Amino acid sequence: MKQPTVLITGALTGIGRATAIAFAKQGANVVVSGRHEVAGQSLAAELRTLGANAEFVKADVANEADVSKLIEKAVSLFGQLDIAVNNAGTEGELGPITGQTAENVHATFSTNVLGTLLSMKHEMRAMQAQGHGSIVNLSSIAGKVGVAGASVYVASKHAVEGLTKSAALEGAAFGVRVNAVAPGPVQTDMLDRFVGRDESQKAGFLSGIPLKRAATVDEIAETILFVASSKATYLTGQSIAVDGGFTIQ
Ligand SMILES: NC(=O)c1ccc[n+]([C@@H]2O[C@H](COP(=O)([O-])OP(=O)(O)OC[C@H]3O[C@@H](n4cnc5c(N)ncnc54)[C@H](O)[C@@H]3O)[C@@H](O)[C@H]2O)c1
Repeated sequence: MKQPTVLITGALTGIGRATAIAFAKQGANVVVSGRHEVAGQSLAAELRTLGANAEFVKADVANEADVSKLIEKAVSLFGQLDIAVNNAGTEGELGPITGQTAENVHATFSTNVLGTLLSMKHEMRAMQAQGHGSIVNLSSIAGKVGVAGASVYVASKHAVEGLTKSAALEGAAFGVRVNAVAPGPVQTDMLDRFVGRDESQKAGFLSGIPLKRAATVDEIAETILFVASSKATYLTGQSIAVDGGFTIQ
């Protein structure tokens, strides 16, 4: 069977990187994207050592010219775009609403909301032309519940959930599935930025998770691979919480 071509945004660290490695191990054609040329080229080289065809394309998802060129490049490299993982995201400036600024709202929404929208715009154009495709957006438990001290991030991830549902309804007409994966706390730098690096503070935070720990990046990557894959052909418009039970409480 022909290997799928997969695009991952914000792929140079954390969940994106783990997802790129997991797809590469399956032998997919992998296009990794991010804002840093040297780290990106080095990740693409690492993925090739795993047996995948892999290329890096530099792109800031908040910049439409970058996003448009990224999707064009992915299609021209491998002939089509089967799977897109819109992973690039930022927590922005955390803190109470009383300290929020318009600049933080613009910056956080530029990546998380505009970036997801622009990515889907150009991915869905390519996928509509070929008549199939699967998109996975990275939401969060912050897309499902409120979090004190993270209102702007929470609002941006609620927007990602809404974009996912609307895109799924549009994509259903031309063979494109659109879903989200909504992680709880994951062992990444982003988690340290949320709860601090202090281990006892982190343990206190994680004690509120029924499974009493953060997810590994690989656990999130495995869910992304499943949702994107041909094992999930009747799944669209959903947001799968991978959160150790946090949102069922
Ligand atoms: N770590 C967690 O606990 C957690 C929980 C829920 C959801 N998420 C979501 O998962 C996704 C991945 O996060 P992560 O945990 O791997 O953190 P991370 O900070 O390691 O990864 C985010 C990546 O996106 C990139 N990025 C940010 N803005 C960008 C832009 N404008 N253009 C291109 N790339 C950009 C960053 O450089 C980084 O490589 C994010 O969307 C995040 O909101 C993370």
